[in-house]
Amino acid sequence: MRQETPVHFDEQRETWDVFRYEDVERVLKDHDTFTANRAFEADESSNDGDDDSPMLQTMITTDPPTQTRLRGFVDDRFQPGAIREYQPRVETVTEDLLDDLEDENSFDFVDEFAIPLPVIVIAELLGISADRRDQFKEWSDALVARPEDDTPEEIERVQREQKEAQRAMGRFFAELLEERDGGDGDDLITLAANAEELSRGEQIGFCMLLLLAGNITTTNLLTNAIWSVEEHGLTGAIRTGDVDHTQAIEETLRYRSPIQSLKRIAVEDVELHGQRIQAGDVLTLWLGAANRDPEIFDAAEEFRPERRPNRHMAFGTGVHFCLGAHLARMEADVALDRLFDRFDRLDADLSDLEPLSALYGLESLPCEVS
Ligand code: HEM
Repeated sequence: MRQETPVHFDEQRETWDVFRYEDVERVLKDHDTFTANRAFEADESSNDGDDDSPMLQTMITTDPPTQTRLRGFVDDRFQPGAIREYQPRVETVTEDLLDDLEDENSFDFVDEFAIPLPVIVIAELLGISADRRDQFKEWSDALVARPEDDTPEEIERVQREQKEAQRAMGRFFAELLEERDGGDGDDLITLAANAEELSRGEQIGFCMLLLLAGNITTTNLLTNAIWSVEEHGLTGAIRTGDVDHTQAIEETLRYRSPIQSLKRIAVEDVELHGQRIQAGDVLTLWLGAANRDPEIFDAAEEFRPERRPNRHMAFGTGVHFCLGAHLARMEADVALDRLFDRFDRLDADLSDLEPLSALYGLESLPCEVS
């Protein structure tokens, strides 16, 4: 596809599929022509901005200048310096999770390590007490759930559960924001509550976005890293330091990108790789394909942690470049470092893997350790 029809209209899904690195990059960087606003319609008269869920207006579904306003108040807290300060806390959380696993001979890497780590980290950053975490996980699962089949009943069930989870989460954050308004805590909920340039609805949207954007993606990065390292027989080399685990994480981001695609909508007629895209057309930007584009990466289909430079776009690019990229990298770095330090042997069982349907990761990854 990437070679023969790099920009291709899929009639069934009614979207332009974009596969090549340079086309994906161009679309993501040109936010004037390609909007991230899902509610955009070419016929302006039907787009009065009165979305039926205005509360959910967040940085990820808006364009500058609104996106700049919605992101500006928190940008500093996710820069490398701020994230470095938080590293000792992530190390403690990681060690605690590993303590719980130490007496076991085997465990499911996804359920017992890769899911809880990012949930605990983001809950702590937001300033949410430990006893609410299970609730948290339930909500985020419901919000990203996909129907198990195509029947109207199943689709309706999933949509109903999503709406319920959304409302429950909205109420939960509204309460906490109210409580912390004017406070001097350094948690992100207090920061949002005091951000006067955001409406309360936008503050709630921010809290919900953080929960959704950072959890399953980081879970999948951790899982895909262990999967890829094991599959390529590199576990020993990582342990001895012959293969740098930080680079293995970067290569995992490229080779098994946790987010495989992003959506944009053309706001005006435009040509892309010889194709006429019309205002209002939807584009699906395949990050996973761009990250394996042979014009950019040598031996693109191979997992090569030593690759330098590694210009993957797993965190997107342009104004929406992932807010949590430094945090996700640091979490993965600490996790791999501590895992290999703790266990002399860590064998992942790759014999019966069940990939996730919506995002690039696994349902479970059984591991034997000693
Ligand atoms: C945006 C990937 C972890 C918060 C994005 C985008 C990508 C991405 C591709 C761009 C979306 C777009 O252009 O439409 C990932 C991956 C992660 C990860 C692969 C883990 C491996 C995190 C974490 C957080 C986070 C840990 C928060 C704590 C966000 C936010 C945005 C975003 C808030 C929206 C930024 C904006 O629109 O300005 N992420 N992400 N992400 N990510 Fe991440």
